[in-house]
Amino acid sequence: MQRTSQHGNWSSRAAFILAAVGSAVGLGNIWKFPYEAGQGGGAAFVAIYLLCVFGVGVPVMIAELSLGRRGRGSPPKSLELVATDEGRSKAWSGVGWIGTIGAFLVLSFYSVIGGWTLYYVLTSAMGGLENITADASGALFNGFLADSMGLIGWHLAFMAITIFIVARGIQGGLEKAVTFLMPALFVLLVGLAIYSVTTGDGAAAIKFLFAPDFSKVNADVVLQALGQAFFSLSLALGTMLAYGAYLPEDVSIPKSSFIIAGADTGVALLAGLVIFPIVFAYGLEAGAGPGLIFVTLPIAFGQMVGGQIVGTLFFLLLAIAAVTSSISLLEPVVSWLEEHRGFKRPVAAITAGGAIFTVGLGTVFSFNHWAEVKFFGRTVFDNLDFLTNNIMMPLGGLLMVVFVGWFVSRKSMRSELHTINDDQFNIWYMMARYVCPIALIIIFLSVIGVF
Ligand code: PHE
Repeated sequence: MQRTSQHGNWSSRAAFILAAVGSAVGLGNIWKFPYEAGQGGGAAFVAIYLLCVFGVGVPVMIAELSLGRRGRGSPPKSLELVATDEGRSKAWSGVGWIGTIGAFLVLSFYSVIGGWTLYYVLTSAMGGLENITADASGALFNGFLADSMGLIGWHLAFMAITIFIVARGIQGGLEKAVTFLMPALFVLLVGLAIYSVTTGDGAAAIKFLFAPDFSKVNADVVLQALGQAFFSLSLALGTMLAYGAYLPEDVSIPKSSFIIAGADTGVALLAGLVIFPIVFAYGLEAGAGPGLIFVTLPIAFGQMVGGQIVGTLFFLLLAIAAVTSSISLLEPVVSWLEEHRGFKRPVAAITAGGAIFTVGLGTVFSFNHWAEVKFFGRTVFDNLDFLTNNIMMPLGGLLMVVFVGWFVSRKSMRSELHTINDDQFNIWYMMARYVCPIALIIIFLSVIGVF
């Protein structure tokens, strides 16, 4: 049975790919990936990451987009409809719920960090990073984090941009935004990578990213790589279920998934080629951790010729990447409100965005007033990050592949994935039934401390 989406549709395959790549490419690629690679020993982490993206991530993405397209509703609704079609329990809608609630929670802190990127665009553009020393850079960042009103203002600004785009609908909002923002992102990224490799220490960066030293690899690095692959590909947070729901029938989901994963990985590596030549040329610490971009990199921008422009463009790139992801985190929640509360899209976007903004205050205060308020030994922000990244995403992903592999008939998956040949389908089916669930169960058990 073919359904239609009440939320709108992508106007073309290209529009969908741009939107999905926009979702995938975000803070995860430019902020998290480089510092995780930096801490995980560079190329060895990269190699394992690639294996996770194509071995586990892509099969899960194919499953998620397929379920979305077949259900054509908000994530919980799509799951419920497909389960009903297949004569399965409606409780499978819980998988959609994990995604939708996960998207809500992730956006609450993603928007706070998105706000940081806006602040740094402005600070860099106004010359605030000029000749900045290591100490001053640390002080700037810490001072910014200590100022809760400032953080709230930037968080609000970022959320307002997100709400504005989503309120305008699939074609008028999301699609328009990505067709303008993604080319801009690409030009900035390639331009900055060329600049960085040619003027910085490109050779050291390339060696660091591409010559693996497997002695640095341990179980934690593997877990981190798989978690990062999921986050970076926007999996198991309802995004791909929602974006799949607006997808024309004739678009090949497997092919699109490879394109999205390829582009996402390409951007992560390019971001590494922007950041590490600068890091090595200026003798900075590649394993600096989360502060790599906001504390370490500005030191180099402050010293280099034209650093004010390069720095501003860099943070602009980061802000654009963050916006094209945040809209994909708001969409699952908005589509649910439209369906279940009968809200018009602008009202749904403002309601959802407002609620998410409010929850985000917990993250804002984690950096100042509530820095010492800990549950399970973690701040509110760390708890949200842990709950979503380490529990909801692997669990959601696991349930999704188990659902398509074991509870949906092979025949209906085959007809959903009609553009590939039998051999290709069999490979995917094997991955979805065995490889992905096993990998995800291992992750999940290790996260909850079984081993
Ligand atoms: N993939 C985005 C990033 O790398 C984050 C994201 C996760 C967006 C899940 C949507 C859904 O920043």
